[in-house]
Amino acid sequence: MRKIVVFTGAGISAESGLQTFRGTDGLWEGYRIEEVATPEAWQRDPARVQHFYNLRRKACIAAQPNAAHCYLADLAKLEDVQIITQNIDDLHERAGSDRVLHLHGQIRMSQSSLDSKAIYSIAGDTLLMTDCCERGAPLRPHVVWFGEAVPAMDVAIAMAEGADVFIVIGTSLQVYPAANLLHYLKSDCTLIFVDPNASNYSVPAKTVLVEQTAIKSIPYLQNLLAK
Ligand code: APR
Repeated sequence: MRKIVVFTGAGISAESGLQTFRGTDGLWEGYRIEEVATPEAWQRDPARVQHFYNLRRKACIAAQPNAAHCYLADLAKLEDVQIITQNIDDLHERAGSDRVLHLHGQIRMSQSSLDSKAIYSIAGDTLLMTDCCERGAPLRPHVVWFGEAVPAMDVAIAMAEGADVFIVIGTSLQVYPAANLLHYLKSDCTLIFVDPNASNYSVPAKTVLVEQTAIKSIPYLQNLLAK
């Protein structure tokens, strides 16, 4: 059975109402990224960072998986599908996908600010500054901030190397090392790139461009994947 690896970014959740990162104003929900998504921001003003992610978590919980998330979950019932997502939302899982690798963490989880391997589920939508790990250190969102290592990268690379079909949906490919995954594909891997702004991006030759939103791309993907 062919291996289909799907690499998703914020664009797949846009039609669920979650804003992408790199909007035209360069802001993420009105915040500059370095104000809220860096270790320095946490050092400087942890309460502000906590508040920002509490808002994002509320939005994530209120959002529903859309037809594109559901299409991928359904596809996995027929094909060997692995999802690698840069998204911290859980919409793939709530659509029914169970093979989802989160490269940049998960907003509904927390981690110890002393030990990134001490990870906990968050009950509800709010993490308080008084919530601590067993060692007494404050819990922070379980997300990979700019400047931090991406622990799941090696696993993602192995998945990319094994792909017969690699489908990219809704990412600007501007954030590394995640964007490097495309460099690990086999020479005969079919690469499909779905993004309403696909033609703005430089992608490898032979890439099949689907210049549509994630939801509108579904019939194109069905056609391209038909055997
Ligand atoms: N369907 C598909 N793609 C869409 C849609 C849609 N409805 N709407 C927008 N897009 C595309 C945009 O054209 C853009 O190329 O989604 C992409 C979103 O790009 P970014 O906002 O840069 O998001 P992403 O690539 O996921 O960001 C990567 O950056 O901020 C960090 O850690 C964060 O994981 C994130 C990483």
